[in-house]
Amino acid sequence: MTLVFLVSSAANADDKVGYYGLGKVPSEAEIAGWDIDVRPDGMGLPPGQGSVEDGEMLYEEQCAECHGSFGEGVGRFPVLAGGQGSLSEDRPTRTVGSYWPYVSTLWDYIHRAMPFTTPESLEDDEVYAITAYVLYLNDLVEDDFMLTQANLASIEMPNQQSFFRDDRPDVENVRCMNNCKNPDDIRIASSVALEIVDSESASEETAAAATNMVYEQYCSICHKNGVAGAPILGDVAGWQDRIAKGLTSMTERAISGFTGDNGVMPAKGGFLHLSDADIGEAVKYMMESSQ
Ligand code: HEC
Ligand code: HEC
Repeated sequence: MTLVFLVSSAANADDKVGYYGLGKVPSEAEIAGWDIDVRPDGMGLPPGQGSVEDGEMLYEEQCAECHGSFGEGVGRFPVLAGGQGSLSEDRPTRTVGSYWPYVSTLWDYIHRAMPFTTPESLEDDEVYAITAYVLYLNDLVEDDFMLTQANLASIEMPNQQSFFRDDRPDVENVRCMNNCKNPDDIRIASSVALEIVDSESASEETAAAATNMVYEQYCSICHKNGVAGAPILGDVAGWQDRIAKGLTSMTERAISGFTGDNGVMPAKGGFLHLSDADIGEAVKYMMESSQ
């Protein structure tokens, strides 16, 4: 079966070129010229290697005039090193070391785009060496380190775990066709932003319970000001009937998501990486703050 399929699809590819009368089937060498991307697991890397020591010389010659001898950035050219721990600050310094999730991106970027004025001019071994040196500038490898095709993917970057698949479900809104709200009466009650509740201004009801981090970071986006029809934290009337159904029922509904009279509560608020226990604690906190 498989063989038959492959043969016939290859035949189709040729047919199409003929059908439109345009272009030609690219040769393997032509495809290889474009197919230069490198994946986090190292797929796509060419054979080769380079040391921090060799990288230092190449970097000084070809990179330092713009990015600085220590990766500090000259003028407005990008900073390549440092900034660790700054991501939560108002003005984070995003560098290879503080922000980038994979070494493969660094290798690929340098190989593809740098030096800025002469991209793709570096030999593969030179790219390995310079990549090793930029890692060294970020204190991620020692000065005697040798970067190779085989070990590149095994280097773990400090910020890697902050990158994850966005698995929030798509939300479908039904268009209103009759008896719709007057647009002039609709106001945006809150921007969707992560807000930290000022404990002094929190209402008396909320002061009773210790704050819950999951609520603050995720659920408050809707439940603080009633975005999307969410019952507002501390609004006793809005929560009465829900609380009457019991904590277990509310928790189950918050985990699996539901559509009610007020709107759509997405499963886990849309943050599916949260555990069931996280949701349980947050719901308990929301209940205690709203009765
Ligand atoms: C003439 C100045 C210049 C030189 C020389 C230069 N770069 Fe760059 N580099 C830039 C500019 C400009 C950018 C930003 C490009 C953009 O954002 O499109 C950049 C971006 C980068 C980035 C991505 C930074 C980030 O956080 O987005 C890396 C990594 C990098 N360069 C490495 C190198 C290396 C390694 C060399 C030497 C082989 C080099 N550069 C040589 C100007 C330069
Ligand atoms: C995108 C907006 C949104 C986010 C984010 C959100 N909710 Fe909701 N939530 C709603 C809406 C809307 C309702 C009310 C639905 C209805 O009853 O019509 C609701 C209702 C609830 C209820 C009441 C359940 C019941 O049985 O009546 C609980 C409990 C709840 N949410 C917990 C959470 C938790 C915990 C989080 C954070 C992990 C969260 N929500 C994040 C929109 C949101």
